[in-house]
Amino acid sequence: MFPRGFAWGAATAAYQIEGGWQADGRGPSIWDTFSHETGRVFGDQNGDVACKSYELWEEDLRSILQLGLTHYRLSVSWARLLPDGTTQHVNHKGVEYYNKVIDNLLTANVTPMVTLYHFDLPQALQDQGGWKSPNIAALFDSYARFCFQTFGDRVKLWITINEPYVCAKLGHEDGIHAPGLEEPGGRAAYLVGHNMLRAHALAWHSYDAFFRPKHEGLVSLAINSDWLEPLEPDCAEDVSATERHLAFTLGWFAWPVFVSGDYPEIMRAVIDANSKTHGFNSESRLPIFSKDEPPILGTADFFALNYYTSRKVTSGCGHSDILSMKSDRGAQEVLDPSWPISGVSWLAVVPHGLRRLLSYIKKNFSDPAIYITENGFAQVGSLEMEDVQRGKFYTETISEVAKAITEDGVNVRGYFAWSLMDNFEWADGYSVRFGLFHVDFSDEKRKRTMYRSGREYAKLILKYSTEHEGPHPNH
Ligand code: GAL
Repeated sequence: MFPRGFAWGAATAAYQIEGGWQADGRGPSIWDTFSHETGRVFGDQNGDVACKSYELWEEDLRSILQLGLTHYRLSVSWARLLPDGTTQHVNHKGVEYYNKVIDNLLTANVTPMVTLYHFDLPQALQDQGGWKSPNIAALFDSYARFCFQTFGDRVKLWITINEPYVCAKLGHEDGIHAPGLEEPGGRAAYLVGHNMLRAHALAWHSYDAFFRPKHEGLVSLAINSDWLEPLEPDCAEDVSATERHLAFTLGWFAWPVFVSGDYPEIMRAVIDANSKTHGFNSESRLPIFSKDEPPILGTADFFALNYYTSRKVTSGCGHSDILSMKSDRGAQEVLDPSWPISGVSWLAVVPHGLRRLLSYIKKNFSDPAIYITENGFAQVGSLEMEDVQRGKFYTETISEVAKAITEDGVNVRGYFAWSLMDNFEWADGYSVRFGLFHVDFSDEKRKRTMYRSGREYAKLILKYSTEHEGPHPNH
């Protein structure tokens, strides 16, 4: 069912697990600043200590081995490696830490996939304008080159930026993620998305020109998308609202990289028109890619997809007088009452949505190799170590992935569960638990204990990874 060499993984991100926010010369990031402000995060919690992975990496490794993962997706913290964001000052302790992590993984026969940017911009760069500044692309490129140079002899799977949509929209329009900017008008979100695409493309071109010849790795960016389908499939307005919505989420980043080197036409048309109506006469709020910079098209060696949930879409009252990205897209999301809700209200459990989204990607983005770089299920409220529902969720979702491969011919190369362990869930703090391992945040040692769903995921991995290759080395 799953091709030989299929990646069975779990994912984490630096700020969500490491803690050690001031240890050994790490610089502050925008999430330190944001979470230290009152009222930003549930219970005013922060990632100062988190799962203590900076101190207790060996515990993480033990968990990875207990699950029998073939791959582990982690992110490196820009501010831990380059405290002021620039290569003028390298924090060698940070380099040592990630060297240890990468080397330990390889010794244990686990392949690392490394994300360079998972929401945690060095504060020093935010102070110079952050992702809204055009200069950020070159700064990111230098950081990326530094990482390729330092770790690229051993790391062969790279993600430049995780979920540019979330950074742009939640961080710069909704203000619910760092840096907490609440800028109406859509302009800030589009500008951030634009600079993220430019930064990603520069880094991909650097890898391609200077590192790929000797390291032979692969580079992509992780794009998040819900599966979207019309509320009334026979209603033309719902169908076009769905297309528009897909263009504004998945298409915003996937279209330039995989299809045309530019934004989806519908996005350009709507934003240009709305910009004009609202008096932005000379300039649209959606920036234009400069011909003088390296092209965006073709800057992904595989498709990295973060999928969590699905929505029905109707045109309805998505429109509003206040200009925003949301009003531009003119689509309203509706939950299907038959979809069970996980611990968090936004996460309706729709495993078949993943299969449909995979087919959509195959069809619209030239049948790329796809890694599902995140997918998971949240628990809130009372703690259930026997998390039957999450186990069921993984079994059902993985069976949809199997169908996508065998029945729909989608080229899926790997699946990463979010997350290896409970961690700092951004604005929800520690109130939302996504882990395959429970973490006791009241314990000094942050004791990790495998949930029932972890045991079930381990069984699935063992079953599928031995189908072709004999016993897994870790069992
Ligand atoms: C993603 C994000 C992860 C994790 C997950 C669950 O958007 O990349 O860091 O928090 O959502 O909400």
